[in-house]
Amino acid sequence: MSGRLDGAVAVVTGAASGIGEGTARRFVEEGARVVVADLQEEPGIALADELGDVALFVRTDVTSEDDVAAAVDAAVEEFGRLDVMFNNAGVVGVVGPIAETTAEAWDHTVAILLRGVFLGTKHAARVMVPHGSGVIISTASTAGVVGGLGPHAYTAAKHGVIGLTKSVANELAPHGIRVNAIAPGNTATAMTASVFSSDLDVEATAKGIARMSPLGYAGFPADIAAAAVYLASDDGRYVSGHTLVVDAGQTSSGMSLSPMHVGENRQIHEAGRVT
Ligand SMILES: NC(=O)c1ccc[n+]([C@@H]2O[C@H](COP(=O)([O-])OP(=O)(O)OC[C@H]3O[C@@H](n4cnc5c(N)ncnc54)[C@H](O)[C@@H]3O)[C@@H](O)[C@H]2O)c1
Repeated sequence: MSGRLDGAVAVVTGAASGIGEGTARRFVEEGARVVVADLQEEPGIALADELGDVALFVRTDVTSEDDVAAAVDAAVEEFGRLDVMFNNAGVVGVVGPIAETTAEAWDHTVAILLRGVFLGTKHAARVMVPHGSGVIISTASTAGVVGGLGPHAYTAAKHGVIGLTKSVANELAPHGIRVNAIAPGNTATAMTASVFSSDLDVEATAKGIARMSPLGYAGFPADIAAAAVYLASDDGRYVSGHTLVVDAGQTSSGMSLSPMHVGENRQIHEAGRVT
């Protein structure tokens, strides 16, 4: 059976964990070759080794333009082209009341969540425009669609991702490039475990998410990967400038969820590390 991404080459940022890892695995199942781009070397290398010669790990800090450019160039050099850019790396970032949020913590969070997406989009466009085709997908969040679901910097940055998606979709459409975002609701990963579970337990987190889910079950990385495959493949050929909400109907039902501007000020870093 042929895959929906046969012959395609993708860069997936944040691919060492959670949604990025699930998507890298699914992209490979669908016939793609994948650059696993992440700050975390150990799990990133382990995933690339497991996937075999269709995958390559490139240590990437998405806040660094040189790193992002190098990840894109690695796709072209190793696999010959870039068809799909998945700007997915992220952190919860700074949490707590606005009056206690330092400018430094704000900048750090926004650099990962919004500058990182800008850089990925910019460098993907650099190689896709001459080719006249490509798909750029960025992970926003339901916190990018409504207020009150996430911390302030996170919410602002994710709204920015959706704005950037619409703006760049308009520029790149004449070049045959589609630009979309995915807005996941609560999905059981290391990131949500840092919020839902005191001991970073993803299974316990899934149970907590299920209790809050209108459908009665939690979302997993595979659910977001399925949306990414749709947007990345020809199934999504008429879709651009769109944000696909994948949240069990949580935001559309107007359910109020754990706001994160209450409680103490802290930072939640990559793959759920809390400081
Ligand atoms: N899990 C959810 O409920 C949820 C909901 C909405 C949106 N999201 C978004 O999904 C994306 C993936 O999150 P996840 O839930 O899979 O979390 P995760 O912690 O499992 O994975 C995030 C990955 O991003 C990497 N990363 C962090 N900072 C980086 C940097 N500067 N450069 C490169 N890589 C970096 C981490 O090392 C990690 O491997 C994020 O953008 C997040 O905001 C997640």
